[in-house]
Amino acid sequence: MDWLPLLALGVTAFAATNVDDAFVLLLFFGDRRYRARHVFIGQALGVGLLVLLSLVGALAAVALLAAGSAHAANLEAGKSKAQEVCQACHGMDGQSAASAEYPKIGGQHKDYLEYSLRSYKSGVRKNAIMAGMAAALTEKDIQELAKYYSAQRPGLCATDEIRESGKCEGQ
Ligand code: HEC
Repeated sequence: MDWLPLLALGVTAFAATNVDDAFVLLLFFGDRRYRARHVFIGQALGVGLLVLLSLVGALAAVALLAAGSAHAANLEAGKSKAQEVCQACHGMDGQSAASAEYPKIGGQHKDYLEYSLRSYKSGVRKNAIMAGMAAALTEKDIQELAKYYSAQRPGLCATDEIRESGKCEGQ
């Protein structure tokens, strides 16, 4: 069994890190200026605070993990919507191999993509094809699609800013 050495290690580590505490406690108990009751209360408060801090830390870690998986789900949703609707013209990587008429949207800024889609939807930006596409999108679709296409590699590595963002490897 592997747990026996592990347990021994745990006990030794616990003893090693707490042996100094034992000495400090002995000093407190030995000193007449301190009452045993107060030393106990002090200990309880200290341990309670440590448990509280660990709980807060654990909760924060769980929240961070949850946020991370929400982010992944978001990208996936954008990807499947792109596959369903946008791929035919813009391609999955947003590099529109189909025709030069279709602008490259892969690697474009997320807020620009969102702004464009909202503008087509509201009619501020006029284009017969994209008006129809955007009309069918919800605000959530728009955010997910923008997230997906902005995360793709840009077709043109024209500026140092794009190159330094690490999206141009191999180009
Ligand atoms: C039938 C072909 C077609 C489909 C499908 C299509 N688009 Fe487009 N898209 C176009 C054309 C053509 C333009 C250029 C319109 C213009 O000149 O304003 C365009 C423009 C855009 C632009 C603006 C790009 C820029 O540089 O300003 C965005 C963003 C965009 N499309 C996103 C999408 C998304 C997201 C989808 C899927 C929901 C999609 N498109 C589906 C043909 C298409």
